[in-house]
Amino acid sequence: MRKKIAAGNWKMNLSYNEGMELAEAITNQAKDIADNQLVILGTPYIHLKEAVDKSEANPKVKIAAQNCHQAEKGAFTGEISIPMLQSIGIEYVILGHSERREYFHETNEILAEKAKAVLAAGMTPIFCCGESLEVREEGWHAKYVRNQLERGLFHLSQEDFNKVIIAYEPIWAIGTGVTASPQQAQDMHKEIRLAIENRYDANTAENTSVLYGGSVKPSNADELFSQADVDGGLVGGASLKPELFLPIISSLASYS
Ligand code: PGA
Repeated sequence: MRKKIAAGNWKMNLSYNEGMELAEAITNQAKDIADNQLVILGTPYIHLKEAVDKSEANPKVKIAAQNCHQAEKGAFTGEISIPMLQSIGIEYVILGHSERREYFHETNEILAEKAKAVLAAGMTPIFCCGESLEVREEGWHAKYVRNQLERGLFHLSQEDFNKVIIAYEPIWAIGTGVTASPQQAQDMHKEIRLAIENRYDANTAENTSVLYGGSVKPSNADELFSQADVDGGLVGGASLKPELFLPIISSLASYS
């Protein structure tokens, strides 16, 4: 059965102390999480090690990096490698967030390399995809997202793909307060599952977790998470405060 996940993406927010307080609050207060559910906190690099240590108090809470470099080591000033992340116990890495694609020029080809390298290290990529407002208005969003998957993920072997988590994040809904309607999210998640079925098989499509991201908040989490093909959320702004993220975790908990 596929996992249902409430993942937070802190982006470039929170001082070290603020981050530690938040990680501790979520770890201590995230309760009633079923066997097939997980909470993941995507923190900046400076928080990762201590967040991993804190998360050990709650087996349902895991920590993710927000990016990594595809090379094992070398002259890449300012970058963080997969072995470095592994050496502090990180199991999850967010890849291909639209902000990485747009501001840091990460292409599908670079992301394909990153996904392969993360999986080769035994870690799990949370692979982001999603279209701009322009693409949505022109009506070819399904094709656009399918292309991102084909070029960024579908080179993976069946065995590797089985471990991938996908996050559909329409760019027009990220940080804008505008959320995709539950139906819009459901429609795209279904398209994503269909693309997986075409590349792999129906069983793989059925077992892949597909999260929705883009202005998820306590007031819309229930509606979004109740959609048949939505397996939880990747949450930005509302993951920065326990009083917002904990109710989102509770919404997920009611859809085991
Ligand atoms: P948001 O961000 O929840 O603030 O819209 C989501 C994301 O970018 O992962």
